[in-house]
Amino acid sequence: MRVFVSGGAGYVGSHCVKDLCEHGHDVVVYDDLSRGHRGAVHPKARLITGNLGDAATLESALSSQTFDAVMHFAAFALVGESVDQPLMYYRNNTINTLILLELMARTGIRRLVFSSTCASYGTPRQVPIPENTEQSPINPYGRSKLAVEWMLADSAAAWGLGSCALRYFNACGAAEDGSIGEDHQPETHLIPIVLQAALGQRPHVSVFGTDYPTADGTCIRDYIHVEDLAEAHRLAIETIRPGEATAHNVGTGQGHSVREIVEAARRVTGQTIRVKEAPRRPGDPPSLIADATQIQTRLGWRARWTNIEKVIASAWKWHRSHPAGFDDR
Ligand code: UFG
Repeated sequence: MRVFVSGGAGYVGSHCVKDLCEHGHDVVVYDDLSRGHRGAVHPKARLITGNLGDAATLESALSSQTFDAVMHFAAFALVGESVDQPLMYYRNNTINTLILLELMARTGIRRLVFSSTCASYGTPRQVPIPENTEQSPINPYGRSKLAVEWMLADSAAAWGLGSCALRYFNACGAAEDGSIGEDHQPETHLIPIVLQAALGQRPHVSVFGTDYPTADGTCIRDYIHVEDLAEAHRLAIETIRPGEATAHNVGTGQGHSVREIVEAARRVTGQTIRVKEAPRRPGDPPSLIADATQIQTRLGWRARWTNIEKVIASAWKWHRSHPAGFDDR
């Protein structure tokens, strides 16, 4: 397949591009490199530098060849930042997706895999969370993504778009071959922060909230390896049918607390990793775990990376060999 990948230089996008290239697909990456890295783009993929909001550049990129499908990752994904700068999130995540959809309609591309999020559920009443849980996001990031899911459903009925929204839980880990990994500036995610502490790049890890209603008082998340996410995207793109909008959770179905992640990282790295208890971070639900049975039944996908130490070890391999991240700054 010829696949157009927006945001293919970002963390999840670049791992999906790698997986597509390694499975014989022909990939064009469209990325403005504002948060992504040139060095993360697989050598077999062609990179076009551009922003989704630049409709002229995007249209010429989408028309540069005939594409069978689009995978759309380009977005901002930090909950706290979205609270401070909501309009920036609605512009980049929602309005720019609308531009992409308009141009897909115009250029006749009818298949899309969309990078959605478990943040669209807000604080769910039921954990593990099945897809039919009410989507009631509690921050602008989740709302900016949920609005896109509505556009996809309406576009299926109106102009035959076939789409699959993948609602990721906590993406983590790095390519097993060590070639690419996670590099955010600034870093806010738990596992890279814990590993930066193990490398001595941070004095300690702040544990945000120790009074949650969980077994050890810290938040529980479902950590899904980025290579498992990549496989889910590839299976989704191969099974999308025009005129049908679907959505699947992508998670392991297992939860780990913040303290369990730190403990696992201590075992993997052999380092002490100091922690400091800190207040809760606004907007963090106590527990988010996927009910991932639907994607298993419909796409035959199942998480392979179910051992959290192996997941952390893959990230550790990347962080140790690239202590300053990609060398493109
Ligand atoms: N945490 C800490 N200390 C840190 C960083 C994180 O205790 O220094 C805790 C958080 O409070 C949370 C857990 O570790 O309980 C995971 O936090 P991350 O920042 O790694 O991930 P989030 O769960 O906040 O965010 C991820 C994605 C978002 C997505 C969200 C859905 O990054 O894009 O899951 O909940 F919206």
